[in-house]
Amino acid sequence: MAELLLLADILWVWSKPIGVGIYDFDFRSFFPCRQPWQRSPEVTAVGRCGAFEEYRVEYEALLSEGIRLIHTPEQHDKASEFGQWYPLLEGSTPQSKVYAETPTGEAVAESFQFPVFVKGSRQTSRHQKSLSIANSPSEFDYIMVRYASDPILSWQSVVVRDFVRLRPVEGNSQGKVDSSFEFRTFWWRNQFVGGGRYWWEGRTYQWSANERSEALRLAESTAKLIDVPFLVIDLAMTVDGNWIVIECNDGQESGYAGVSPIALWQNILEIERS
Ligand SMILES: Nc1ncnc2c1ncn2[C@@H]1O[C@H](COP(=O)(O)OP(=O)(O)O)[C@@H](O)[C@H]1O
Ligand SMILES: [Mg+2]
Repeated sequence: MAELLLLADILWVWSKPIGVGIYDFDFRSFFPCRQPWQRSPEVTAVGRCGAFEEYRVEYEALLSEGIRLIHTPEQHDKASEFGQWYPLLEGSTPQSKVYAETPTGEAVAESFQFPVFVKGSRQTSRHQKSLSIANSPSEFDYIMVRYASDPILSWQSVVVRDFVRLRPVEGNSQGKVDSSFEFRTFWWRNQFVGGGRYWWEGRTYQWSANERSEALRLAESTAKLIDVPFLVIDLAMTVDGNWIVIECNDGQESGYAGVSPIALWQNILEIERS
């Protein structure tokens, strides 16, 4: 059951645990929370209620109950739809193409050199390597057959990206995409509020102060280009030592990964207070 919480008398959160450890956060255990019986007819709230199936539908439904989610449907799409954020970030993220119709490997070869990275316009299928990296046009065709029957991928447009060699952090595990030197960063009103390892399960890795400030410089300019209230930017370092943007997402839907949720929400409250 979702509930409307007022954090520290400042920030409304529409909160629902979804049973995913890296996403859920028990606000009540770490922040003073109230559920005022009387409130203004409309409040603006951050949704922490899992992935939205149809943002606009859920946005309108909540609005009719006096709860306005922090992102308009347009802002949500700008942050999470590949076709929306990619054109804003060309140059700082691997060169990519969104295909409205499933392309053939041959058609892909006209625009890309193999190997290519392939995913849905919103996400991969749980980071499965065999569905994400195509080494040849025929391998690409085979992947597309599997996309057609994959519950996560079949309804998304196909995105093909230049395959970029990323700085590795450890070997691959159980058929997943190799973990690389990647970090997740959270941005609240274009201000940095939290960053940490993207691959939080495996071996630990840390950015040096220099690496961190370079990464944050790229992420900050990225945040300003996308310019939505609550944004997540995932960054990776290439084998050449350059930072690139891997993807953006709506902060309402993103798991914390290696980011401390306590520090994150404290930083957000701090900004809202001032
Ligand atoms: N263009 C690319 N080249 C090489 N590796 C990539 C590329 N894009 C993504 N990856 C790797 O695959 C992982 C998953 O891709 P991502 O786009 O983040 O999918 P998801 O939306 O499912 O998280 C990334 O964290 C990164 O390690
Ligand atoms: Mg990702």
